[in-house]
Amino acid sequence: MEVYPILMFFFSTLFVLISSSAALDTISPNQPIKDGNTLVSEGETYELGFFSLGKSQNRYLGIWYKHVSTFTIVWVANRDTPINDTSGKFQLSNEGKLLILSGNNTLIWSSKSSIRNVNLPVAQLLDSGNLVVWDETNTKEAPIWQSFDYPGDTLLPGQKLGKDLRTGIQKNLTSWKSPDDPSIGRYKVFLNTDGYPQTFEVEDEVPHSRFGPWNGEGFSGLPRENTNPIFSVEFVVNEKEMYYTYKLKSPVLQRIILTWDGTHLQFSWINRTQEWVLYGNVVVDNCSQYGRCGPYGRCSTKTYPPCNCMEGFEPKVLEEWNSGDWSSGCQRRKDFECGSTQEDGFQKISGVKFPDTQHSWYNVSMSLRECEMACRRNCSCRAYANLDVREGGSGCLLWLDELMDIREYDDNQDLYIRMATSELPGKSSFKRMKLIIVVVLSVSSVALLLSAVAYACRNKKKGRGYWTNTLNRDDQVENLDELPFFSLHKIVKATANFHIDNKIGEGGFGPVYKGVLKNGELIAVKRLSETSQQGPDEFKNEVMCIAKLQHRNLVKLLGYCIDGNEKILIYEYMDNKSLDSFLFDETTSLMLDWGQRFHIIHGIARGILYLHQDSRLQIIHRDLKAANILLDSEMNPKISDFGLARKFVGLDAMAKTRNVVGTYGYISPEYAVHGHISVKSDVFSFGVIVLEIVSGRKNRGFSQEGHSDNLLGHAWRLYKEDKSIELINASLLSSCVVSQVLRSIHVGLLCVQQHAEDRPTMSSVVSMLVSEVMLPLPKQPAFFTEESCRELEFGSSSNEYMITLLYAR
Ligand SMILES: *[C@@H]1O[C@H](CO)[C@@H](O)[C@H](O)[C@H]1NC(C)=O
Ligand SMILES: *[C@@H]1O[C@H](CO)[C@@H](O)[C@H](O)[C@H]1NC(C)=O
Ligand SMILES: *[C@@H]1O[C@H](CO)[C@@H](O)[C@H](O)[C@H]1NC(C)=O
Ligand SMILES: *[C@@H]1O[C@H](CO)[C@@H](O)[C@H](O)[C@H]1NC(C)=O
Ligand SMILES: *[C@@H]1O[C@H](CO)[C@@H](O)[C@H](O)[C@H]1NC(C)=O
Ligand SMILES: *[C@@H]1O[C@H](CO)[C@@H](O)[C@H](O)[C@H]1NC(C)=O
Ligand SMILES: *[C@@H]1O[C@H](CO)[C@@H](O)[C@H](O)[C@H]1NC(C)=O
Repeated sequence: MEVYPILMFFFSTLFVLISSSAALDTISPNQPIKDGNTLVSEGETYELGFFSLGKSQNRYLGIWYKHVSTFTIVWVANRDTPINDTSGKFQLSNEGKLLILSGNNTLIWSSKSSIRNVNLPVAQLLDSGNLVVWDETNTKEAPIWQSFDYPGDTLLPGQKLGKDLRTGIQKNLTSWKSPDDPSIGRYKVFLNTDGYPQTFEVEDEVPHSRFGPWNGEGFSGLPRENTNPIFSVEFVVNEKEMYYTYKLKSPVLQRIILTWDGTHLQFSWINRTQEWVLYGNVVVDNCSQYGRCGPYGRCSTKTYPPCNCMEGFEPKVLEEWNSGDWSSGCQRRKDFECGSTQEDGFQKISGVKFPDTQHSWYNVSMSLRECEMACRRNCSCRAYANLDVREGGSGCLLWLDELMDIREYDDNQDLYIRMATSELPGKSSFKRMKLIIVVVLSVSSVALLLSAVAYACRNKKKGRGYWTNTLNRDDQVENLDELPFFSLHKIVKATANFHIDNKIGEGGFGPVYKGVLKNGELIAVKRLSETSQQGPDEFKNEVMCIAKLQHRNLVKLLGYCIDGNEKILIYEYMDNKSLDSFLFDETTSLMLDWGQRFHIIHGIARGILYLHQDSRLQIIHRDLKAANILLDSEMNPKISDFGLARKFVGLDAMAKTRNVVGTYGYISPEYAVHGHISVKSDVFSFGVIVLEIVSGRKNRGFSQEGHSDNLLGHAWRLYKEDKSIELINASLLSSCVVSQVLRSIHVGLLCVQQHAEDRPTMSSVVSMLVSEVMLPLPKQPAFFTEESCRELEFGSSSNEYMITLLYAR
């Protein structure tokens, strides 16, 4: 018994010696490979030869990893036509065709190469795992044939899944029949090129699941694989071909395989001890089944039943729906009226995997606005969206049929569904009011903004080491030239030399001026006070970093200026003032009807979600409050002041002593008391803002007869007594949608829960707001009495933490 392993070792060593001495990676015509001999790629990664699997006597010709201890096949030639003895041979014909012949010279398999004039064909096994046939007299041309064009169940790095539009060759992944039988099994993954291309997995040709269309960063509805350290996925569409491929980022062996039972598309790699480690797989859950909830049905794994109709839609066949058969899906409550005088509207849906794009049309260069127009013009158009999420979104995708296979998914891509105007939720009437409102920018502490962003830039690696302070060189100056530089002269002209009449605000870090450019464009000019210690390079880096943060719910940076000691930021000009000045003023609050308020809540949530989840940076705002939300001419909310000043407490110092800065009434307990900051602190502040928007009352300084509750406590008590609706501002009663109000209050209460881990993430918040998902029950909020707040104010600052609270106006 003891001898056996030693013998094994001896034989395998011998085998390595023999095969490496005889290792060839090419064959020419009339140099057949007999069963028992192999080709080895130059770097000895792959080996080609005949093999058998399990107990079967069947011989197949294929390619496997030479040095991986678990025998792993990556490609099989004669999948469906095995040879039943060891008489087979593999050879190259004079015409450049690869052939497998059995002992009596019967043709078992041949490569389907297009007929071309070949002078001197050779077949070579490359170190990428690709078996190619070249013409040796013409090596510059593409190979005559390559195994990468005929994948089996495995996709290797650099191999393409998709379609060559010139040759029509489609590269699909097909599963094996069983672990020991490589013949074509029941499952297939392929790129469907009808409409905008997307990938399907089919079982016996019936769609089983669908990976959403590629959005520039990932598949809509699947985790963004590009953030992983091992490989990155790429999607290419041009006149010649459409395909997915992937590249390795680190020098490991990696494969993607469609398992024989079709349960998974698995990503795995070889670790140092030469074993396969599963990196991940495409998640299969109850909502990944294609079209489970039918047209316009939205699938959620978090609710039971999993299917819900989209807003404005109802079950098509109610009895079926109620009995758990959701396949006929939902229909519109009211049809849209394409072509009639009344224009249709579009309902914006966030946080879903995009519907099936088989019947769609696309254009990569159109803007969202052009896309909307294109959709309006075509009565078959049911919805539109940006194709690509990068850089704030681009391209146009139109759906020309019922929307199928929608599931809830934390994704930051918006879908606009065509609706009859009367079916639109929270229709805004604000545009029609002609209001002239004095502009007051909130106390916009530019320095605060700058430092927080700079800080985030330095801690770029998402979700990692918030307190570490590693400078990432790559990010220092890229895109520097993209943000316009304004000369001081131009700014002096625009603001009439910073004339006092043009001053629209005064932050702790310098005044803000209104300016008019030559072309008539209005700008907001923030002139940083000269006490700033930053050097020009540092300042530039920070500015560039902010400039990359672009979202419709963030105040946009238009340019910057450095001149001597002057450091100036130029922002888009906001027509309306900050949210708090509307909300807490008896007269102006009447202008905000429920529809607008809900629109504002939703917009703020989207803006914060962007800050938290933007693929490049993770920004924690730290000082969200109604005063930091500005409103544009259409009452779209825009978040300003992304954070707190290093100049004020010093971010570097903060990392060490953890001084706390926040605004009384909005600050979360763990941040105020322990200095713990996380995205959940922003969620808390958001919750307070929601309750303020609904009630029209400030959390700070709230009083209610007979109770010592603050706004949070008051909302909580009403919620528990099932009287939440009493929270709303009386002026809203006529305009409100009760279910939306109750949902908003409920979400607000979930956000202000005492324990950070109980609070939802912003992506859940966004989907909770816009969909009918079941909401969890909120627990008691933090700081629900005025006393608890005062304690915070006067009592709890220990030596360990210096608490600095800013006061909202
Ligand atoms: C191989 O298959 C042939 C027919 O397909 C059969 O005649 C022959 O007996 C088989 N040989 C073995 C060893 O099973
Ligand atoms: C050659 O062998 C194959 C199976 O290996 C068998 O099917 C075929 O009939 C044989 N042909 C001749 C001419 O013997
Ligand atoms: C790939 O799958 C598609 C869709 O089922 C099919 O039309 C095509 O023929 C397949 N191509 C190959 C080479 O299997
Ligand atoms: C490699 O993976 C195997 C299987 O997962 C594991 O047992 C082994 O410890 C890993 N080796 C290293 C060096 O990580
Ligand atoms: C699907 O839902 C059912 C019923 O809720 C549950 O029992 C089952 O585990 C779910 N399956 C998956 C894959 O999540
Ligand atoms: C796509 O849209 C752009 C901009 O509207 C237009 O110039 C171009 O012709 C369109 N391309 C196609 C193929 O429709
Ligand atoms: C809508 O657009 C599609 C794709 O361009 C086109 O095939 C169809 O004819 C259009 N329908 C109408 C009614 O214009």
